[in-house]
Amino acid sequence: MHPQDLLLSLALLQSLSLALPTPQIGDYGENSGPVGGVDPPTPVVTTHSGSLRGDSSLLGGNAPLPDPDTSDSATVSDAQLVNGQTADAKLGLYLDFNSANPPQPIRGDKGTTDPGPRTYEYEKLNPDLYAPPGTDTGDVPNAMWPMGLSHNRAGTGKNAGWARQQNTEVLPIAKAMAGVDMRLAPNAYRELHWHTASEWALVLKGCTRVAAVNDEGQSFTDDVCAGDVWFFPAGVPHSIQALDQGVEFLLVFDNGDFSEDGTFLVSELFLRNPIEVLSKDLRADTSAFDNIPQEQLYIFNGTPAPKNISEQNTTSSAGAITGSNSYTYHWSLQEPYTVPGGSVKILDPLTFPVAKMFSAALVVVQPGAMREIHWHTTSDEWSFFLQGSGRITVFSAPASSRTFDFTAGGVGYIPAANSHYVENTGTEDLVFLEVLQAPKFSDVSVAQWLALTPKQVVKDHLNLPDSVIDNLPKEKPLIVTGNTNLTALAGNGSAF
Ligand SMILES: *[C@@H]1O[C@H](CO)[C@@H](O)[C@H](O)[C@H]1NC(C)=O
Ligand SMILES: *[C@@H]1O[C@H](CO)[C@@H](O)[C@H](O)[C@H]1NC(C)=O
Ligand SMILES: *[C@@H]1O[C@H](CO)[C@@H](O)[C@H](O)[C@H]1NC(C)=O
Ligand SMILES: *[C@@H]1O[C@H](CO)[C@@H](O)[C@H](O)[C@H]1NC(C)=O
Repeated sequence: MHPQDLLLSLALLQSLSLALPTPQIGDYGENSGPVGGVDPPTPVVTTHSGSLRGDSSLLGGNAPLPDPDTSDSATVSDAQLVNGQTADAKLGLYLDFNSANPPQPIRGDKGTTDPGPRTYEYEKLNPDLYAPPGTDTGDVPNAMWPMGLSHNRAGTGKNAGWARQQNTEVLPIAKAMAGVDMRLAPNAYRELHWHTASEWALVLKGCTRVAAVNDEGQSFTDDVCAGDVWFFPAGVPHSIQALDQGVEFLLVFDNGDFSEDGTFLVSELFLRNPIEVLSKDLRADTSAFDNIPQEQLYIFNGTPAPKNISEQNTTSSAGAITGSNSYTYHWSLQEPYTVPGGSVKILDPLTFPVAKMFSAALVVVQPGAMREIHWHTTSDEWSFFLQGSGRITVFSAPASSRTFDFTAGGVGYIPAANSHYVENTGTEDLVFLEVLQAPKFSDVSVAQWLALTPKQVVKDHLNLPDSVIDNLPKEKPLIVTGNTNLTALAGNGSAF
C-alpha cells in the first residue's frame, strides 16, 4: 500500500467512525454487565477517595443478611441451544457453536447454562471441552496446544522472519516430541546451528535451501519445497535459507523439552571462545574477527542463494551425502494412497532411512469422514493440523477419556497405546500430520482387530448384532466415510 493510500483509508476510517458506534476494542464476545459485585462502567473521577478495605461489620454474622429475591440473579433466560444439543449426551454429537451467542455448556440432561465470565470465542473453538460428550470421564492430561497461543519470536533482521514453538513448557504431556512453526522471508536464513535433538521438518509453504555437514566430513545441500521433508540428526550442523519466494516450515524434534531458543548458534560459538583460540584454530590474524556479529543472528536476511545449487557444492575426500543417507525426501512428489473418505501418505525409515525413528503420515479426511479409531503400539503421536477442523477423543486406561477440538495450526499429542480417532468436524477437507518415534509407521485398527478376532469371542464380549460383526472390515480402513451432517443422528438420521 502506498503511504498516500494509507492516509486516505485512515481518513475514511475516521469519517466512518463518526457515523458508527464506538468500536469495542477486543470484542471477542464476552459477557457484559454486573459480575462479582462490580457493575461496569465504573464512574470516571479525578481524585482518590474512599478506602481500600472494609471493616469488621461486613464479617458474616455481623453483616445484614442479603435478600436473595431482590439481590443478584444467576438465571440465564434466553439460552440458545444448537442442533444436537438436546440429544442424549452419550451420542456425543459435534456441536457447532458458531451460531450460538453465547454457547451453553449443555448436552441432553447434562450441564446447565453459564451466566459467568467467559470469552465466547474459546468455547466456539472448543465445543467438546465446554460441553463434553457424555462418554468423556475421568482425567486425561491436556492433549492440545494451538500455535496461536505460542509466543512468537521475531528474527533479528528487518522483517526477516519468526518462529513459535510448542514444547513441554506449554504442553506438559508431550514428553517425546516438540514442534516449531518457522517463517523465513525471501533469502532470509535460520542461522547456522546445531542441537542435541534430531530435527524432522515438513515444508508448509514456499521453498528453501538446506545444507549440512556430518561427522564423517560429508556434505549435503538440496532445495525443498512445500510438502517435502528434511531430517538432520542430533548434533549435525545445518543451515536453512529461504529461496526467492520465502518459506514456512514445521519442525518436529525427538525431545519434548526442546527449545528453539536453546540451540547452538555459529555466532555464539565465535563470541564464546577466546580470540587467540579462534586465531589459532582458523589460522587467521586476530583482526580477522573484528567484524564478527556481536550478538546472535538467529533469523536474519541474506544474499540470494545462487539459482544453480551445484555452485554451492563443496566436498571433502569423503564426498557428498547421497543415496539412502540423504537428508531430504521430496515427499511432495509421492502420490497419496486414496481410500473412501480421504487419503494417506506415509514416510518412515522404510523409504527415508536417515530419519531413523521418525515415522509420519499426512492424512486428508473429507467432510463427515473420520480417521478410524486406532492406537500406536509403542510410540506417542505428535500431530499437527494443517487445514480444516477436527476432533479427537483420547481414551486412556483404565477408564478415562476426553475430547479435544483442533483447527489449523493446532498441535495434538496422544500417548502410546491410547486409542483415538480424528473426525472431520468442518465443511472442508481436514489435513493433518501424525508423527511417531518408531522405525515404521504402524497402528492398530479397532475395526480390523475385531474383524480378525473369532466371531464368538467378539459376540461374547460386546453383544453386538451378528450383522455388525459379519460386516467388520478385514482390511484396515484407515479412514471411514460419514454423514456430513454431524447432528443427523439427533433427528433419527445416520452417522455414516
Ligand atoms: C555435489 O558433488 C558430489 C560429488 O562430489 C555429487 O555426488 C553431488 O550430486 C553434488 N550435488 C549437487 C547438488 O550438485
Ligand atoms: C551449475 O554449476 C555447475 C558447477 O559450477 C556447472 O558445472 C553447471 O554447468 C551449472 N549448470 C548450469 C545449468 O548452469
Ligand atoms: C442435520 O440434521 C439435523 C437433525 O436431523 C437437522 O435438524 C439439521 O437441520 C441438519 N443440518 C443440515 C445442515 O442439514
Ligand atoms: C427416533 O426414533 C425413535 C424410535 O424409532 C422414536 O422413539 C423417536 O421419537 C425418534 N426421534 C425423533 C427425533 O424423530
